[in-house]
Amino acid sequence: MKEKLKFIFSRIRAGRLQEMRKQIRWIYGYAKRYWLAMVFYTALGLVGTVIGLITSLVSKDLVDIITGRQTGEVVKTFVTMIVLNVVTTLLSMLSDYASTWVSMRVDSEIKADIFEKILVTDWESLTNYHTGDLLTRWSSDASTISSGVLSFIPNTIIYLFRFISTFAMVVYHDWTFALFAFLGMPVSLLLSKTLMRRMVNNNKRSAAMAAKMSGFNQEAFSNIQTIKAFDLIRLYIANLKQLQKDYIHMKLDFQKMSMGTSLLLNTVGLVVSYLSYGWGIYRVWSGAISYGTMTMFLGLSGQLTGTLHNLTSLVPGVIGLTTSAGRLMDIVEMPREDYSDDDLVLRFAEKHREEGVSLRLDQVKYAYKTGTLVFDGASMKADPHEVVALVGPSGEGKTTMLRLLLSLIPAQDGMAAVCGGRKGETFADEIPLGPSTRKLFSYVPQGNTMFSGTIAENMRNVKEDATDQEIEEVLKMACAWEFVEKLPDGINSVIKERGGGFSEGQAQRLSIARALLRKSPVLLLDEATSALDVATERKVLKNIMRDSYPRTCVVTTHRPTVLNICNRVYAIRDRKCVLLNEDEIDRMVRDF
Ligand SMILES: Nc1ncnc2c1ncn2[C@@H]1O[C@H](COP(=O)(O)OP(=O)(O)OP(=O)(O)O)[C@@H](O)[C@H]1O
Ligand SMILES: [Mg+2]
Repeated sequence: MKEKLKFIFSRIRAGRLQEMRKQIRWIYGYAKRYWLAMVFYTALGLVGTVIGLITSLVSKDLVDIITGRQTGEVVKTFVTMIVLNVVTTLLSMLSDYASTWVSMRVDSEIKADIFEKILVTDWESLTNYHTGDLLTRWSSDASTISSGVLSFIPNTIIYLFRFISTFAMVVYHDWTFALFAFLGMPVSLLLSKTLMRRMVNNNKRSAAMAAKMSGFNQEAFSNIQTIKAFDLIRLYIANLKQLQKDYIHMKLDFQKMSMGTSLLLNTVGLVVSYLSYGWGIYRVWSGAISYGTMTMFLGLSGQLTGTLHNLTSLVPGVIGLTTSAGRLMDIVEMPREDYSDDDLVLRFAEKHREEGVSLRLDQVKYAYKTGTLVFDGASMKADPHEVVALVGPSGEGKTTMLRLLLSLIPAQDGMAAVCGGRKGETFADEIPLGPSTRKLFSYVPQGNTMFSGTIAENMRNVKEDATDQEIEEVLKMACAWEFVEKLPDGINSVIKERGGGFSEGQAQRLSIARALLRKSPVLLLDEATSALDVATERKVLKNIMRDSYPRTCVVTTHRPTVLNICNRVYAIRDRKCVLLNEDEIDRMVRDF
């Protein structure tokens, strides 16, 4: 039984070690580009150590000259010592600069890289993470890694060198003093072992806590209106206070632990230094060593204890580093989207620029990872210059169908493609829907999607070189010009965060105008006209249909009032897209 437990324990340890190795390799994947700076930093540390040792030799001479044990020039020795001290200060400044240089660069690199990876991560996998959690991982875990990246290999080399060279110097002068260096070692080792265990737990706890806080802050700040409207001010303040209390509790817990360990360490340090002090006095008294040697030993023994402690505390530091790396690797290792068809899609778009592109879905099946089966055997089609409507009660799958078209989620069965070069019911070209075909789409989702900035800036986000004339045209088409025209600053009026400063219907029309400006072959509108009055809604759709640009438009709607101007209407029902005939559409419009 005992053997079995031991075996399991060793397996777990091996697993953790293997994981750590992987995480360290990952970190050094970023750091390795700065190997020259790291070598420089290490060299500075080594030179600093040597100069420190020389300084202690010079200071020994100085004491011995002053006490008359040795002959020599006091002033010259004194000046040498000052020069050495100045050089040490300069070296440590340089090494601080080098370490900041490396960590800032590694920090930016990790952040830029993770940012990009988040953007190309499979959409559904990403939705498993709260934005607050993602933000914490992205900002604070990346910072932990970048600020600790030097602490592993370079600092290990420096500390090891410092310990060995100092130790050798002590042994060279009087080996009996060397024993004192090891007096504190068992305590140091023991402490670092407990510290390490606690550190792992604490890191996990504090990361979870940070994610929770950042999620809370982010949601609270972006929903101030809702908090007020539901009279939740007290509740939210109470929630914040509770979170803060938990946070403080956790921090203080850790602080208490480190206070305990540092108390123990300091006591041990003091005992060791008193003992070596006593031993030094005895050796001076018995004539074995000089005063100078004694002061040198006192300094060096302090350095030995300190370096030993530094070495042992490298381990918990690396644990913190690898925990953060692990949290970032979770994100990096999520499934990636495949953009390898980008060129193919660009050529396809160019080839069919004149006549536009069609959408074909045949017997498509899709279930969310949660198990909700939304489509099973769904088929639909949409062609250029058409407006095709998807109707159905809330929760039937309209938005899901648009996500399938955008390939934010992949069809699990059946065929879904963009097609071009139509001859009757067959096509010359066909590309299965995927992340690359998204280039052909413009999408206006449910809810507000304007960025903060001016109207013109928002428009130029999707087409950098759009002229004022072009912007005016699309605003007219989306029936937005009628109110933009009246604004004192026209298209240079400022939109606040998430469309603030405009009515819901106005923001919707601006969103549609932006999508039209992008001039993509397919336009998807998800309830994008829901806040408009019926007349304006019809007008916007008619404008889109009449536009000379060969656009294929798919809209979802709850309101049947626009259905009779659409080319085709599909009711989403029983996990399928059911094509409605005119009678059915008329009945829907009448019953509304
Ligand atoms: N990200 C998701 N993960 C798991 N299930 C989801 C997800 N999004 C939607 N669903 C489920 O899929 C079904 C279809 O949702 P969808 O958003 O497509 O409906 P909808 O027709 O657009 O509704 P509405 O008219 O209210 O916008 C619902 O049962 C919903 O609970
Ligand atoms: Mg929806």
